[in-house]
Amino acid sequence: MPARHVAPSILSADFARLGAHVDEVIAAGAHIIHVDVMDGHFVPPITIGPIIVSALREHVGPDIDLDVHLMIERPEKHVADFASAGATGITIHAEATPHVLYALDAVREGGCRAGLAVCPATPLTVFEEVAVDQALCMTVNPGWGGQPFIPTSPDKIRRLRALVGPDVPLMVDGGVSVKTAAACVEAGADWLVAGSAVFGTDDPGEAFRAIVAAAAG
Ligand code: DX5
Ligand code: ZN
Repeated sequence: MPARHVAPSILSADFARLGAHVDEVIAAGAHIIHVDVMDGHFVPPITIGPIIVSALREHVGPDIDLDVHLMIERPEKHVADFASAGATGITIHAEATPHVLYALDAVREGGCRAGLAVCPATPLTVFEEVAVDQALCMTVNPGWGGQPFIPTSPDKIRRLRALVGPDVPLMVDGGVSVKTAAACVEAGADWLVAGSAVFGTDDPGEAFRAIVAAAAG
């Protein structure tokens, strides 16, 4: 069984002091930092690109996992840049390209774990066709932090776990908090991405620890 992690998403961090904000959750025990990349096409907002991943890599050093979630169209065109910038894992969306296998291969060629994500309305059948190094079940519609957890998500997490088997890390993303973490774990999630519930608080380190405790049941 993969190790359980809470992965703070920098989407809700203060970008004017990103390094310091990330340091707070690392000091609290975070090992995976989740980086949300949006292109204004696959999802309406535009966020950040490889230069921020590169700056973060330099800041956090080699031992922290920078897990990049690409909410961009045709991700295969960009994965090499994110890999060179220092990503550890790169997750693409099944809805974002007709070339899912090619894109996952490109991620692995860059030396990163290859992840596949699906939006809430997307069937899980693609996971019957491809092998992934990590799976991501969106528990809100992608694009924004701070949305409520979709209540039917645990059922989908359970079905995804059955498809990928026990050894593939299963990540959930969206609306994860002290209130929803335990249900995600109970359904089979290993990695809990949390943005606003961590960086949207006055004390991200303490908020991170509270979600870790809630996930432990
Ligand atoms: C949303 C992003 C998430 C976002 C989650 O599209 O993929 O990673 O940061 O934010 P919260 O935890 O606030 O729902
Ligand atoms: Zn994300």
